[in-house]
Amino acid sequence: MKELTFNADDFAAWVIDWQQQQGRHDLPWQQDISPYKVLVSELMLQQTQVSTVIPYFERWMAAFPDIASLAQAPQERVMELWQGLGYYARARNLHKAAIAITARGSFPDDLASLQQIPGIGRYTAGAIMSFAYNRYGPIVDGNVRRLFCRLFALEGTPGQSALEKKLWQLAEQLTPREHNRQFAQALLDLGATLCKARQPACQSCPLQSVCLAYQQNRVAELPTPKVKKAKPSRAGHFLWVHQKQQLLLEQRPDRGIWSSLLALPEVEADDPRLAHAELMGTFSHQFSHYQLDASIWSPSAGVQETAAQSWYNRQQLAQVGLPAPIRKWIEQQLKQQSD
Ligand code: ADE
Repeated sequence: MKELTFNADDFAAWVIDWQQQQGRHDLPWQQDISPYKVLVSELMLQQTQVSTVIPYFERWMAAFPDIASLAQAPQERVMELWQGLGYYARARNLHKAAIAITARGSFPDDLASLQQIPGIGRYTAGAIMSFAYNRYGPIVDGNVRRLFCRLFALEGTPGQSALEKKLWQLAEQLTPREHNRQFAQALLDLGATLCKARQPACQSCPLQSVCLAYQQNRVAELPTPKVKKAKPSRAGHFLWVHQKQQLLLEQRPDRGIWSSLLALPEVEADDPRLAHAELMGTFSHQFSHYQLDASIWSPSAGVQETAAQSWYNRQQLAQVGLPAPIRKWIEQQLKQQSD
């Protein structure tokens, strides 16, 4: 176990006291808390900012007010409500988690059983224990990682296993046995509002006097930045087939990018339909691990739809779940055609 430079009970008292005065108390998932609300909000908040998540969370709760309603919902409806948030695997995981928890008969309420549920990892299990049950649940996310790397002057790049192990050990040691809801919210609020990646507000930080990075004047260099690898790119070829005021869309398979969402039909680069097709335009879209360079083609002959493909008129297009860059392309194109 790592020696702490201060007492864990003192640490909890400092951050909880700060949270009470300066932390966030009016986020929608903090009201009438339930394990289900915590699960939904935590999955939405992975990789996405609070301000973006709030309207999605509210629409989600109106559509699926409890875990049983989510478990029973068709996947298309789930994807539709997630549409625009990105990282669609999170939506499928959330749906799978709801189905597994409903089948189990009760929401798990200990760290080990929570982590048996698909889509619930160590962080989400800790967050549910803390926020939903107000019980012991260590958490390490991007906010906590930044805070602890500075507080303890930890070197190593995020994701490196030696660093991750140290961070979880610290989280386990520092997490108190009571007031866990406030403690976990304090760590996230400190990371998001004071101990920010850029321009951290050290002057307002309750931990300034014990922060090793601050004492060593190394706040700007910690945590060690990840060396950015150049992103690979992939070419994607999509068909634009618009007939009788209807557009042909295809439901994508339930793996890979945009899984289960509708999109323009994608074909291989050597598809014979592309030989005589007109290139209508291109766009690029950044995914976390690569860039998609998309080309949109209008085939010269009519296209016979396959089982996964169907026709959509404008009104239907407005209602279905489409990946954001595909929706943008379609809307621009239809607007040009009607101008
Ligand atoms: N990020 C992850 N969980 C959060 C929460 N409960 N409140 C604010 N930001 C968060």
